[in-house]
Amino acid sequence: MVDVFNDIRYAIQYEQVTLDLGGTYRQFASDTLSLIKIPKNSKVLDLGCGTGISTCTIFDMAEKVKVTGVDKAQHFLDIALLKFGLLDNPNSILQIIKQDHPYPQVLRDKCDVKDLESHLKKIAQKYKKFGNKVSFYHKDASEILDIKERPFDYVLANQVIHWFRKKDTKSGEPNLDYERTIIQQVRNSLKEGSLFGFNTSGADYKFDKNDMNQIHILNHPFYIAFMESLHYQLSSKWFPKREYTFDHNEIKRIMEENGFNIEASKQKKMYRQPNQIIEVCIVGGQMQIFQKSNVESTTEERERILEEALKYALRKSSPGVKPVIETGIHYIARKI
Ligand SMILES: C[S@@+](CC[C@H](N)C(=O)[O-])C[C@H]1O[C@@H](n2cnc3c(N)ncnc32)[C@H](O)[C@@H]1O
Repeated sequence: MVDVFNDIRYAIQYEQVTLDLGGTYRQFASDTLSLIKIPKNSKVLDLGCGTGISTCTIFDMAEKVKVTGVDKAQHFLDIALLKFGLLDNPNSILQIIKQDHPYPQVLRDKCDVKDLESHLKKIAQKYKKFGNKVSFYHKDASEILDIKERPFDYVLANQVIHWFRKKDTKSGEPNLDYERTIIQQVRNSLKEGSLFGFNTSGADYKFDKNDMNQIHILNHPFYIAFMESLHYQLSSKWFPKREYTFDHNEIKRIMEENGFNIEASKQKKMYRQPNQIIEVCIVGGQMQIFQKSNVESTTEERERILEEALKYALRKSSPGVKPVIETGIHYIARKI
């Protein structure tokens, strides 16, 4: 199977979309980190650190910390290493960005695509001073107990926990064993009474009156048409709701069952420009369909299907038909 998380082009696309969207994943991380301050001199685990967006945000928001990043995707980690001046050959990634742009032409023509190469160089310039305060491990989140920096004072999982929920291949229902194992390991990696901060997309966000002329991205007609086409091409059925997202009660239950007490939580809106929805569809659609549903495909096949879906969605609806909102729900849970 093609693991989108382990594809260098996808890792670069992930970085590109978050830059073009005004630092989406950075916003997620800073909203969680600002709920309860990380104490000075803490040892922090950035679980599912990806390309290091959350890792950099930890250094910005907490004083004198040491951070350990863990991710199961080596190519995502390569970008994180580059940002902290720890990658042996940073030009290998910068060359790919320059010569073999991560987005298909059709997407570049339609979106406000920013200069990723200069952005990464600037980030590396800023964060290389933390190179001796950070370490990265290529590991699955279910295997974190042998990390030598353990125990931690704080674990952050920025836009990660929804990836721990697997589908049982026989029943099609969620299989919670893997998720439970990871949350238990997070607990066992923390010092007594320490904190676990995490966020997800806020499936049960309640819109207030002022938001009524806007629309959540998951309900936007352009997004729905795009997903319909993806599913049609892959001969699977599209249900207009995200599989395996959590509502507040479910998160509360998972935390309590695994020895955590939720101390703080907050829902937040994030506004988007209408044309950004195209980028979200292409990059987020890949994550949802090709990763979560274990669809077999090569990178080329994936790009062809995505382009087809984009053309279909553009025929059916305009991305600008309504302003788009995205939401995040943020939690701090304490080990009890
Ligand atoms: C949406 S990205 C978030 C990355 C990062 N925290 C950020 O703020 O940009 C999700 C990350 O979780 C990682 N991930 C998903 N499941 C994982 C697992 N079981 N173990 C380790 N990493 C995992 C993926 O490889 C990916 O880098």
